Amino acid sequence: MQSAAEVKSAFPIPAGVHAESVVSVKHYTDRLFSFRITRPQSFRFRSGEFVMIGLPNAEKPVFRAYSVASPSWDEEIEFFSIKVPDGPLTSHLQKIVPGDTVLMRQKSTGTLVLDALTPGKRLFMISTGTGIAPFASLIRDPETYEKFEQVVLTHTCREEAELAYGVELYEQAVNDPLIGELAAGRLTLYSSTTREETPRMGRITQLIENGKLYADLGVEPLDPAQDRVMICGSMAMLNDVKAIVEDMGFEEGSNAKPADFVVERAFVG
Ligand code: A2P
Repeated sequence: MQSAAEVKSAFPIPAGVHAESVVSVKHYTDRLFSFRITRPQSFRFRSGEFVMIGLPNAEKPVFRAYSVASPSWDEEIEFFSIKVPDGPLTSHLQKIVPGDTVLMRQKSTGTLVLDALTPGKRLFMISTGTGIAPFASLIRDPETYEKFEQVVLTHTCREEAELAYGVELYEQAVNDPLIGELAAGRLTLYSSTTREETPRMGRITQLIENGKLYADLGVEPLDPAQDRVMICGSMAMLNDVKAIVEDMGFEEGSNAKPADFVVERAFVG
């Protein structure tokens, strides 16, 4: 495996950037793929945070924000990405193979972290598309289960094939020797599609508003007295879900001022 010092790039590695090797790549659809890279020993992050990543293909590489999809105890780092045909980064990134180099800035940050929420009983993680990535990290973090009794992860995509990453993730979490024990009977995955006919259809906003989410899961409606919410997806989705939960009385939290819900825009370009 290449180490940072052995990376052969025509361009110098910028200061404050780790050069890491791609370990594996998995393509889900023509729009989505995941990949794993080696983890620098010094890299620490909180589950749910994002980092800036790029490729060593230019003097000034293009960096984009990517949520870390792996839990903080993992020896590798996982990301879940969209493929944008003309995207300045993803048009190249989608072609990576094991052994290639990916650049990662040293500092992680973000608001989709447990520290930004006040204590609660149930945690709802609402995601669309690649917005599931930070939750991929959080549902595999023991702290999530120390802080919440019930964890509901919702994932909505246009088509069924786009839901596969979330389904795999859920299976992995419940079958993991450590996390499985914590997640058993407490973690629920709720997936839906909007453009392909499947047994469960609809935008999450509709499924919350018409009560189908609660009816399907057999749970009490969202309530700021006992629930906390994390939201990650497109800007339009964030705004709509935020408006719904604010209407219910939820207050937005941050690292500086923890509260009832937090939002983060999923990576798009
Ligand atoms: P739809 O197919 O009705 O647009 P995208 O791939 O465009 O990021 O969308 C991912 C999922 O998010 C799709 O199922 C899409 O539904 C849904 N979505 C898009 N906009 C919103 C919104 N404002 N509120 C809730 N869901 C949304």
